Amino acid sequence: EKDGYDWFMLKEIAEQPKAIADTLLGRLGEQGQLVLDEVRLSDQELRDIDKIFVVSCGTSYHAGLIAKYAIEHWTRIPVEVEVASEFRYRDPVLDRSTLVIVISQSGETMDTLMALRHAKEQKARVLAICNANGSTIPRESDAVLYTHAGPEIAVASTKAFLSQIVACYLVGLFLAQVRGMKYEDEIAAIVDDLRKLPDAVATVLASMEEVRALGRSLADADTVLFLGRHVGFPVALEGALKLKELAYIHAEGFAAGELKHGPIAVIDQGTPVVVIVPSPRSRESVHGKVVSNIQEVRARGARTIVIAEEGDEDVVPYADHLIRVPRTPTLLAPVVTTVPLQVLACEIADTRGYDVDQPRNLAKSVTVE
Ligand code: M6R
Repeated sequence: EKDGYDWFMLKEIAEQPKAIADTLLGRLGEQGQLVLDEVRLSDQELRDIDKIFVVSCGTSYHAGLIAKYAIEHWTRIPVEVEVASEFRYRDPVLDRSTLVIVISQSGETMDTLMALRHAKEQKARVLAICNANGSTIPRESDAVLYTHAGPEIAVASTKAFLSQIVACYLVGLFLAQVRGMKYEDEIAAIVDDLRKLPDAVATVLASMEEVRALGRSLADADTVLFLGRHVGFPVALEGALKLKELAYIHAEGFAAGELKHGPIAVIDQGTPVVVIVPSPRSRESVHGKVVSNIQEVRARGARTIVIAEEGDEDVVPYADHLIRVPRTPTLLAPVVTTVPLQVLACEIADTRGYDVDQPRNLAKSVTVE
């Protein structure tokens, strides 16, 4: 059932273009509008929303962090993102005009379920983004948008994660559409970009042999750091989580701008630092700032592993290893930049001789608080 792949995880990484395409299927109209009839909240309810919380755990939490950038930008509705185990116990301010989006691959994560019940008690509207049909979380939610990633067997989430990000984009654009926050042609242009994502991911996958070789050369690392800005920051967190989960290597993700506020002190001769570089077309020169960050860590001895868009020549002088990804609009970039990090973690774990699909101490679905 692994279809010739050594691990379910590798198979699931390879299935990502299809997972994304299936999650988009039937939800994009011919005129480039969003068709989300399954989201059973009335237009009036959607117009009344004045605050959004995105609540989830682990990798699904990282999807929520990415969602914040897109949903706030497209809808101007304030979005807060929180891990479910914290949200539930701090008495968050919720009412009828709050939308709580819970994200869960399995639909059975206890922390997320308890957060959802708390939100409902406070009369908030709850929308689930879930991969498992008929599981508890969508059953208890007011509305559900299923990701169609198909069954995910490996404990480490990959194709479900990319599908969750895409589902969040759909929710954000749908809200913008219903609330009249964007012109039809603006939405249609973003929808066009969404349609290109499966091919973009396929392009990344086609050049993964180099990344696997790089992974083998990193297998002895004690610590790996991940840096990103803007939507690249949650991608950095996800890259670090994958590496911890699978390879049992200490890994941390940082907002690149935080480097000089502390983390730069841990960089030593040869410390691998993975940097997710924003597109040179991104707003307010975050690109230039990240290029400076690469220079800074390299000057302190880091071995730099740089993930940058095709055609970005500014990073070349400072990259010990350069991983290219296709040009993608800034807000959608996490869908492509995450892929090499998944492959890297998988290959490092395999080289160290670990069971990639069933890492120690972890379960696929965490049904206790
Ligand atoms: O099924 P869920 O999406 O609710 O699971 C949440 C986390 O437990 C999950 O993402 C976990 O972090 C994975 N092992 C990540 O690879």
